[in-house]
Amino acid sequence: MASSEGRLDAGGTRDAGELVAAARRARENAAAAFSHFKVGAALESADGTVFTGCNVENATYGLTICAERVAMFKALSEGHRSFTRIAIVADTEAPTPPCGACRQILWEFAGNLEILLANLTEDKGRHYLEDLLPLPFDARLL
Ligand code: THU
Repeated sequence: MASSEGRLDAGGTRDAGELVAAARRARENAAAAFSHFKVGAALESADGTVFTGCNVENATYGLTICAERVAMFKALSEGHRSFTRIAIVADTEAPTPPCGACRQILWEFAGNLEILLANLTEDKGRHYLEDLLPLPFDARLL
């Protein structure tokens, strides 16, 4: 199993706090040598598996990948195609919502995902992706 965060027992539900805690732990692995802005994400798949991600920067800047997409690409590469929630954590007073590129990828692969925002000590909001990405472009329009 790719995740170090485990999966739920059959029929079980994970407390939102556990998903946020996984995102906080993932944030510690961020490779953010240029922005020093560390982000962690924890994506829960429909079977309860949690895939974590952190942002990964590099010297070109432009090839940076956000924590949310790292988590999603890890999950996709392990064969997961259905998702329930994602927690996103940064060390900021204001919440850190997913960027536009991440909103697009999350929408295309997860649909109307529940999004939990938090910092290192407290919850900072709960949203649904359809509210953060109104009038999305996706495969239905091709
Ligand atoms: N970043 C994320 O990983 N996720 C977000 O939701 C916002 C931005 C990263 C990208 C870059 O490494 C750093 O934060 C500053 O933009």
